[in-house]
Amino acid sequence: MKLLRILIASVLTVSPCWAQDLSKVPPANYDESKIKPYTLPDPLVFNDGRKVGSAKEWPARRSELLETVTREMFGRIPNESVEISADTPQIKTDALGGLAKRKLVTLHLKRNGKDIPVDLLIYTPSQATGKVPLFMGLNFNGNQAVTNEPDLPLAKSWMRPNKNNSVINNRATETLRGSEASRWQVEKILKNGYGLATIYYGDIDPDFDDGFHNGVHSLFRDPSQQGRTADEWGSIAAWAWGLSRSLDYLQNDTDIDTSKVAVIGHSRLGKASLWAGIADPRFALVIANNSGCGGAAIERREIGETVFRINTAFPHWFSLNFRKYNQNEAKMAFDAHSLITLVAPRPVYIASAEKDTWADPKGEFLSTVGADPVYRLLTNDGIPVKEMPAISSPVMGRLGYHIRPGEHDVVAYDWDQFIAFADKHLKAK
Ligand code: GCU
Repeated sequence: MKLLRILIASVLTVSPCWAQDLSKVPPANYDESKIKPYTLPDPLVFNDGRKVGSAKEWPARRSELLETVTREMFGRIPNESVEISADTPQIKTDALGGLAKRKLVTLHLKRNGKDIPVDLLIYTPSQATGKVPLFMGLNFNGNQAVTNEPDLPLAKSWMRPNKNNSVINNRATETLRGSEASRWQVEKILKNGYGLATIYYGDIDPDFDDGFHNGVHSLFRDPSQQGRTADEWGSIAAWAWGLSRSLDYLQNDTDIDTSKVAVIGHSRLGKASLWAGIADPRFALVIANNSGCGGAAIERREIGETVFRINTAFPHWFSLNFRKYNQNEAKMAFDAHSLITLVAPRPVYIASAEKDTWADPKGEFLSTVGADPVYRLLTNDGIPVKEMPAISSPVMGRLGYHIRPGEHDVVAYDWDQFIAFADKHLKAK
């Protein structure tokens, strides 16, 4: 009996999310010929069947679509505000060999007697003579992973274990220093006149299913509350919300032009950047890299990762309502293209990688095509092509897309395109 109790306790304390039963999820399909015929919902048709006749009618249609996607997919971000305070920033004017001014600041998100500390790392070009446009995004391995600087403090929050044992007892170790440097290309960003602000996503909400007691969810919940209501926010919405609170703080930063902030994310954090751009119109441009299912990939294609799979493997990412669409995508009143339209008229860039079949590159492209009519209506511009572009042939209108060779990742080539796209839309203003 005692042994049984120890066994049960250890299963429960390890990490409930590892215990998800994936056995009922059918194996992933990668064969285009097996995709069932589907029709994408027309974003320019109101729920009552009326057609959006002019750009003037779009805001009303956008509101109802936003309500649907919020309720059915990501969950509602609480209306209540939090108090945000910041410790005195630690400033280094000659970071990265003199290329950058570096600011490290801990934000405190406070409510109901709780305080969630969030470490923000900001680099701006040291040569800048005025406020600079900014890329802003969440990182996977802690701020110390984004560059090789030896004096960046290690992330303190809970971290997912990884294969190379660089996370011990769910905490970052020195091995992670610089481990995401190739993904962030900080020197390239700075040399092109942009700043970068980044946060470890686990500071905002640890990426495991703990019943929503930790992270920023806890600011708004009674500790005795069990489970979630069907439309309560999940972790992706929480990560997006954390980005917005950091943007609140940055409004007073004299080095940054907060009217020119591009929100960027990779993979699950690309889903979060897309939702952040939707939920917070202050983000002037949105980039979703290899964001796949729950991001830019059309769910109805059911290729690679599916709604059923993602809701099973990551039960804390979306609202409970989203589970209604497990193997039932046809019932969704929206799809990934609808998410992109919710950013309109602001520019959106979607990036894929050839070998990232799990994220369905073609589905990621097709969502830009599906969003195009809304962009055309509002801006006379959209995605410049109808057919999927060849590898390494980026296309850039108000919507942009590329597919590059290689794996699920963010690489220098991706950043060259993100910067070109940001130059086109943010610098031109
Ligand atoms: C898993 C998950 C994806 C996610 C990815 C990531 O592969 O299934 O949806 O995008 O992790 O975040 O790296």
